[in-house]
Amino acid sequence: MSRTEFDRYSATYEELLKDPIRDRFAGARSEFFHIRKRDLIRDYFRRCSVDTRQLEYLDIGCGKGELISLLREDFAHVAGCDPSPGMLGSAKDVDTRVQDDPGKIPFDAEEFDFVSAVCVYHHVLPEARLALTREIHRVLRPGGILGIVEHNPYNPVTRLIVSRTPVDADAILLKSAESLHWMSQAGFTIDALKYFLFFPYLLFYC
Ligand SMILES: C[S@@+](CC[C@H](N)C(=O)[O-])C[C@H]1O[C@@H](n2cnc3c(N)ncnc32)[C@H](O)[C@@H]1O
Repeated sequence: MSRTEFDRYSATYEELLKDPIRDRFAGARSEFFHIRKRDLIRDYFRRCSVDTRQLEYLDIGCGKGELISLLREDFAHVAGCDPSPGMLGSAKDVDTRVQDDPGKIPFDAEEFDFVSAVCVYHHVLPEARLALTREIHRVLRPGGILGIVEHNPYNPVTRLIVSRTPVDADAILLKSAESLHWMSQAGFTIDALKYFLFFPYLLFYC
């Protein structure tokens, strides 16, 4: 993944994501996938009885910033960063920074209580994933939480959609065992692993 790669996609990003199976799954709400990820994050903190309104949150590889916009009211402060200025160009009313070096998060050490990385790691070369995880660890306060959301490489439908989605041309999907390995190498302890998005829009909301 180079910085310019997502810049090339940014103007037509939503068009490039279109897929008959994906679109049918999301139903009438184009923001369905972001909403489900928002709910996943809310559920996690609710189950841990943590009041997120006291917490500072950073979404790395935030793209167009949809998730942080949806969670803006849940946290004391939300921020995003991404190597692609083109993608960030659409992020409105949220604090975002360009990640000039994809391996360096443009925030100080221990600035955040919660960091998420949603569909980012499969665009990062496997040999760079541990370093990125260590970099996330750097910007988290002691006891801070990292949430990684990724495609399930064991799901054949997911693999089919990824294989024909232009923005995923460089994607190397990661298995949960791999993520857990370098998360613990980077100094994290693992407290939850969850599979989600089993139900399409129609079954979920009706
Ligand atoms: C598939 S998009 C996902 C965007 C957003 N997280 C979402 O869920 O809509 C992947 C994003 O990861 C970013 N990215 C790629 N390599 C990265 C890295 N090393 N660090 C942070 N972001 C990266 C890309 O620029 C792109 O915006």
